[in-house]
Amino acid sequence: MTIFAANWKMHHGPAAARELVRAVLARVRPKEGRTLLFFPPAVSLPAVAAEVAGRKDAAAGIQNIYFEPKGAFTGEVSAPIAAVAGATWVLVGHSERRHKFGETDEESGKKVRAALASGLKVMLCVGEQLAERQAGSTESVVLRQLEAGLSGLDAAAVARIVIAYEPVWAIGTGVTATPQDAAAVHRTIRGWLKDRTPAATRSHILYGGSVSAKNAAELLAEEELDGVLVGGASLEAEGWIGICGGA
Ligand code: PGA
Repeated sequence: MTIFAANWKMHHGPAAARELVRAVLARVRPKEGRTLLFFPPAVSLPAVAAEVAGRKDAAAGIQNIYFEPKGAFTGEVSAPIAAVAGATWVLVGHSERRHKFGETDEESGKKVRAALASGLKVMLCVGEQLAERQAGSTESVVLRQLEAGLSGLDAAAVARIVIAYEPVWAIGTGVTATPQDAAAVHRTIRGWLKDRTPAATRSHILYGGSVSAKNAAELLAEEELDGVLVGGASLEAEGWIGICGGA
């Protein structure tokens, strides 16, 4: 199965989000082995959820949650609230959460557990910063993030998590990892997951970071890549249709 995930970050209110999903789904018809995920801003979730409701191959997700189920946490959204607003997926540990909002590895782990407890599917994002890659610590950073993000989960839960490998230096920069570089990290991640549970041989590992209509097909031709998580190139219909439908 190939997963095409659109992360709209802080773009598109309810009306714009509804229109964009409608335009994409009209042209990207259900196809065996293809899943379409939309991660709009939280306030646009109900609109997107309503649009994907009739499509088994499409789903809506939230970009972030807080790990407590309810309470005095002004400005935050819990997993149960995301679920009733229409999310079936959640992104955890996106690099912007980690590096712009100071989310720690341990907090990512708490969010993963909170999401699963509410029945949400998790896409855990991991990835090294440029200085870490240059220092040769890509593997240790990614494995540390995995270890903390998936701590406390049983083997069955680990096997169901989707991982998005997003090198921080490639996000929004126009610089993409080569398919070979991405595949090398994916193999490391898959190896770590398999050590946890043999069922993880089928885990989905996506690549993200400046994926575009120009490079998506080449990246997805690499068999280690089970999909893409896309920001900028998913923000308008033509580009995103080109990636989901053409790749
Ligand atoms: P980008 O963002 O495609 O704009 O690089 C990817 C992401 O942050 O998930």
